[in-house]
Amino acid sequence: MLRAIKDNTKRYFLDRGYQVDKLHPASLVRLIARKLGYALYPISPEYPLYPPVIGQDLAVLKEPAFQESIKAVEHHTLLDVARLANLWNLARLTGPGTMLEVGTFRGGGALHISNACPAREMFVFDTFEGFRSLAPGLDDIFDRNWFKDTTAEHVRLLFEPFNRKVTVVKGFFPNSAEKLDLGRVAFCHLDVDVYEASRDSLTFLADKLADRSLIVLDDFQRGAHGLDRAVGEFLAGHEQFTCFPLFPGQALLFSRELWNNIPPLTP
Ligand SMILES: C[S@@+](CC[C@H](N)C(=O)[O-])C[C@H]1O[C@@H](n2cnc3c(N)ncnc32)[C@H](O)[C@@H]1O
Repeated sequence: MLRAIKDNTKRYFLDRGYQVDKLHPASLVRLIARKLGYALYPISPEYPLYPPVIGQDLAVLKEPAFQESIKAVEHHTLLDVARLANLWNLARLTGPGTMLEVGTFRGGGALHISNACPAREMFVFDTFEGFRSLAPGLDDIFDRNWFKDTTAEHVRLLFEPFNRKVTVVKGFFPNSAEKLDLGRVAFCHLDVDVYEASRDSLTFLADKLADRSLIVLDDFQRGAHGLDRAVGEFLAGHEQFTCFPLFPGQALLFSRELWNNIPPLTP
């Protein structure tokens, strides 16, 4: 009986696109400690660096606009604060040009990018029906039933109070973008997880990028082998591009040619 309740609960969350991890008894201790005002982190032999993130003095975390954005998007994105901070900082380094989120699910990541650069035009893409295909041996950590519990309307409504120039597009990217005028793309958050979609998206974007443009890839080098393969193949065919891993689980991809003769950043 208890087993069936546990299995059904797990299936309920998996079907809605959540990652379900077993609560370790130590987590209960951490929850109790937190109530008492202490933050406990396990020191794992696999991750001996401790703690993984010390955030107190990071400028981005103290920025009121960033904090407001996190509050607006936190229930509409799977991205953690560290990855949202990278998106915030990097989107602001780019431009002029349009901004894209490819693979938006419930739209929180897209709204957050738009909050970082509110004057810019944004295009937001998803099938809103999950994955079209999973490549065996490459996309095994993903499930065909994930990411179906959302709609384009949900994402449009999320943007509604903010008066932004935004287009939400339903369909398989890049086919879904073929008839759109995207202008020059200055920033793209590419979060489609799997091999085929990542490969086709990168190929499509390569000649549509603006000067001073960046692509941030989610799920880089964290077991999404299809995405890692797609990035490797793309780099092999596009020598002007460079890719850097970013902590935690993203990558920064850009064309060196499009960052030539760019004025230095003012701190
Ligand atoms: C990890 S989720 C995106 C999470 C989202 N960026 C966030 O902030 O929570 C991956 C999404 O990619 C979408 N997707 C996968 N392949 C796609 C494709 N070719 N075109 C459009 N969307 C795609 C899925 O439907 C799913 O919603």
